[in-house]
Amino acid sequence: MSDKLIIFDTTLRDGEQSPGASMTREEKLRIARQLERLRVDVIEAGFAASSNGDFEAVKSIADHIRESTVCSLARANDRDIARAAEALKSAERARIHTFIATSELHMEKKLRMTREQVLEQARLSVRFARNLCGDVEFSPEDGYRSDPDFLCRVLEAVIEEGATTLNIPDTVGYAIPELYGNFIKMLRERVPNSDKVIWSVHCHNDLGMAVANSLAGVKIGGARQIECTINGLGERAGNCALEEVVMAVRTRRDHFGLEVGIDTTQIVPASRMVSQTTGFVVQPNKAVVGANAFAHASGIHQDGVLKARDTYEIMRAEDVGWSANKIVLGKLSGRNAFKQRLADLGIELESEGEINAAFARFKDLADRKSEIFDEDIIALVGDESVTPEHEAYRLLSLEQQSATGERPRATVAFVADGIEHKAQSEGNGPVDASLKAIESLVKSGAEMLLYSVNAITSGSTESQGEVTVRLQHGGRVVNGVGSDPDIVVASAKAYLAALNKLHSKQERVAAQG
Ligand code: KIV
Ligand code: ZN
Repeated sequence: MSDKLIIFDTTLRDGEQSPGASMTREEKLRIARQLERLRVDVIEAGFAASSNGDFEAVKSIADHIRESTVCSLARANDRDIARAAEALKSAERARIHTFIATSELHMEKKLRMTREQVLEQARLSVRFARNLCGDVEFSPEDGYRSDPDFLCRVLEAVIEEGATTLNIPDTVGYAIPELYGNFIKMLRERVPNSDKVIWSVHCHNDLGMAVANSLAGVKIGGARQIECTINGLGERAGNCALEEVVMAVRTRRDHFGLEVGIDTTQIVPASRMVSQTTGFVVQPNKAVVGANAFAHASGIHQDGVLKARDTYEIMRAEDVGWSANKIVLGKLSGRNAFKQRLADLGIELESEGEINAAFARFKDLADRKSEIFDEDIIALVGDESVTPEHEAYRLLSLEQQSATGERPRATVAFVADGIEHKAQSEGNGPVDASLKAIESLVKSGAEMLLYSVNAITSGSTESQGEVTVRLQHGGRVVNGVGSDPDIVVASAKAYLAALNKLHSKQERVAAQG
């Protein structure tokens, strides 16, 4: 059996199914590029048939990604599969991932289909997909809660039709590590042609065991592909977290004896990018990517680490991409140093024009903030309020007054569709007053689902604030992110960035209908 463990990232498909995590095509492409730098084996780019927006996102990722296999999800029907194949046409390596539910509950209540109908549809779909693509993955949805006898019949049939990977989802996060591992083992032993495919695990985190279940599927069951997402993003409690599963296999190579092709130094940048794009904040004590994951607070621990790192550290922070909050640039740094730092951080800007614009923002920030950290640069480049393609609304200036016992007031000057406006409002606080001022003119009518502020670098009130605003309007949910040393300004930028997305009419429908 191979000792290579395939890392299949589904941040852009299953991860995107988290309420409020839907992304634009540009955002998905930016994350896909980072996943490629991370060297994931397979990027599940979306669900091409679910919407025109998702089709375009999958297509654009297939157009640009050259190192990783690009995959699209498709229900087990010809239309979905043909749409996936069409979106993947330009991919260097393409995979179609088709699925149909096989548990009694799903077949009877959701699909209203008999076992024989499901079996036949699975068979025909894989046959159809194999005519369009050499790499076909099949998933029996809710596989873990399916009747093993029936599941074995379905799996045997789809292998006969040419499926190359069989993925066994624990769709509702019901599994327990030992049981899930044994379930995969049992399927591999009972399905007669099981050696013709790669077995894959796909675990949801409803009981907090997605990573443990996935690892058991590998260790006990013999699976050689893990499906996972950055930061464990995903429906409900999320999916198996890529950073955790990869570092577990790497750190405990003695136990797993498997190779993963991931460039682990790209893990933290990937985590930051996904968190910033979706507005899903990473908890400080989250393994590997949480702000405290490598912080030693107690005196005994600090003393131990200073004497010998491995007294309390099983991984090195720099191996997963923590840059130790280095002061990288300042006010006097030139364009070349800035460009070099972008390259060191793995940030590729498309044109000289984009580099110049980012450099101008860097200079502006350096005038107001003496120490510029890597995190500031990442935020500055990702700040959507200044990305030219989203410029229907742009902040010009903001003034606010607040004093104890008085109702705060704000005056915001901004450009809307090329025209300069000035709006004023009162509010509960300066942020509320500023956003109300903008809304008094724009009249978007959007409902705010989330407002969150985070310090970009820890340890000082000099840090920039990064604000995420999530708005809902007309069935669409968008996130806007803005950063600035002044959190009121960051809030106005984030609000305008979200309005830009609502304005841009990009289709942002949840991937799985
Ligand atoms: O959780 C699940 O069952 C899925 C399938 C579509 C693979 O995401
Ligand atoms: Zn899933």
